[in-house]
Amino acid sequence: DAYDAGDHESFMHKEMSEQPTTARRVLSGRLDERFGTGHLGGLNLDPRDLRAIRRVKILGCGSAFYVGQMGATLLEELARVPADAEAASEFRYRNPIIEPETLYVAVSQSGETIDTLLAVQEIRRKGGRVIGLVNVVGSAIAREVDGGIYLHAGPEVAVASTKALTNMFLAFAMLAIQLGRVRDLSIADGRRLIAALNALPEQIEQVLATEDALAETARRLAGAESLFFVGRVRGYPVAREGAQKFKEISYRHAEAYQTSELKHGPLALVSPEVPTVAIVPDDELVERNVGALHEIDARGGPLVVVTHENVSVGDLDCERIVVPKSERELDPILLTIPLQLLAYHAALELGHDIDKPRNLAKSVTVE
Ligand code: AGP
Repeated sequence: DAYDAGDHESFMHKEMSEQPTTARRVLSGRLDERFGTGHLGGLNLDPRDLRAIRRVKILGCGSAFYVGQMGATLLEELARVPADAEAASEFRYRNPIIEPETLYVAVSQSGETIDTLLAVQEIRRKGGRVIGLVNVVGSAIAREVDGGIYLHAGPEVAVASTKALTNMFLAFAMLAIQLGRVRDLSIADGRRLIAALNALPEQIEQVLATEDALAETARRLAGAESLFFVGRVRGYPVAREGAQKFKEISYRHAEAYQTSELKHGPLALVSPEVPTVAIVPDDELVERNVGALHEIDARGGPLVVVTHENVSVGDLDCERIVVPKSERELDPILLTIPLQLLAYHAALELGHDIDKPRNLAKSVTVE
């Protein structure tokens, strides 16, 4: 069947709007509410293999790398296993140490990204075990890995990836729960997270329903030549992904920083002409986050704060974008969705080709 954008003005818009449905699909049949665990049969790892894992190394490019950073935090928090993400495009060039007790995770929508594929081949050549978080069934990476989780996001046409990234996050959450439950995660925590995962598709719908207000904010941001996106810990990869989406389709200079790093340099660039989009979830860092934003406000920097209802920003002069609250480990994905819409409406305002931005390809299959 021909795949078209239907009533939507672009594939990106269609794909963003599909997220509640595609999120339900990736979760479907993969969660065990009774025992508070995951059912990820395709991993080809039994509980003994899962308990033997001493480290997780996640590899992906661009947005898949940033979601990998979100995934690393989930794995450390829920499974208490050291985890980190690295750009797959860099990995093989530094002669990485491949460890038998490390689980390698390759993340890719297309399954054809050459840098990620070559990283997988390098790991396997040296005896490492790799699983894939891949959307396209039967793609090169899917064929190359030892097991994995298909993302079931359906075809994604727009260069700016949205629904596949959301499902990458959900796949990481399920992996972290399953790994956690044969290690240190309690049944109560497993159930708490599963209930929260099951609530996410409807919460994503609620964020999408705020599109008109987000479009207005985006039109204002589109006027700026340069923007900051800031966040901390769980919020930092959200900021990276927000900046990535913004620069890909609006062609504005959008730079992500840890909020805590502002005072170590980038604050010098803050001015009334340089807005900051700040990720401020209701978590253990909220007061420090709000404190740092006052430094921006004091220098006349316009602020858009992506946050939760309960967060008080005091007398901060800012625009608030409020998203529904999940469990704090899962909040990053709900904080990411409005950033997709900000990028989209900024690009629309600037009259750009949303689905095929200049200089970029949907999947990068040559080095
Ligand atoms: C996302 O919006 C980008 N177009 C890009 O960073 C992409 O995520 C990256 O090229 C990886 O693609 P893949 O997931 O198909 O491997």
